[in-house]
Amino acid sequence: MDAIELLTADHQKVETLFSRFEAAGPRATTTKRRLVDQIITELSVHAGIEEMLFYPAVRRADSALGDQVLEALEEHHGAKTFLAELERLPAQAERFDAKVAVLIEQIRHHVKEEEGELFPAVRKVMSKEDLADLGEALENAKATAPTRAHPHQPDVPPFNIVMGLPMAIADRAVGAVRHLVSR
Ligand SMILES: [Fe+2]
Repeated sequence: MDAIELLTADHQKVETLFSRFEAAGPRATTTKRRLVDQIITELSVHAGIEEMLFYPAVRRADSALGDQVLEALEEHHGAKTFLAELERLPAQAERFDAKVAVLIEQIRHHVKEEEGELFPAVRKVMSKEDLADLGEALENAKATAPTRAHPHQPDVPPFNIVMGLPMAIADRAVGAVRHLVSR
């Protein structure tokens, strides 16, 4: 998969999780908790690899796309704030469903802009070979991307890369013992 195919497949994966959440009944709190935990992991990894590799490559390929990338970074920042809050918010909380609904709304907007505007523009300025290489790099980076949201950490190179690895290790450690600590 080239970079754009990989990122589009990620978008489809989270859209499936969103639809499942929306189909879950008001009392299906265990299912909704599990879905939101999956959404947190998927979106954190996705945002992390875009910020580490894709957005910097886009800006390097064409500086005119810088404004679109900056807007995307702000949208990521907003989403991460929701994700960090949702990680701690019990599924039974009064605000839980509303918070997820607004997150879904914002991510759908972000995906629409990326797939409708940014990705087609990137296809025009990057070669097939570069997009294929970038796809491979994105796939490899998934293994070491953060799995939890860190809205207050740097999101542009070099500091997101410097901070990213220790955060990713810590995230996986937290994930491994999550079932041992009370939520
Ligand atoms: Fe994105």
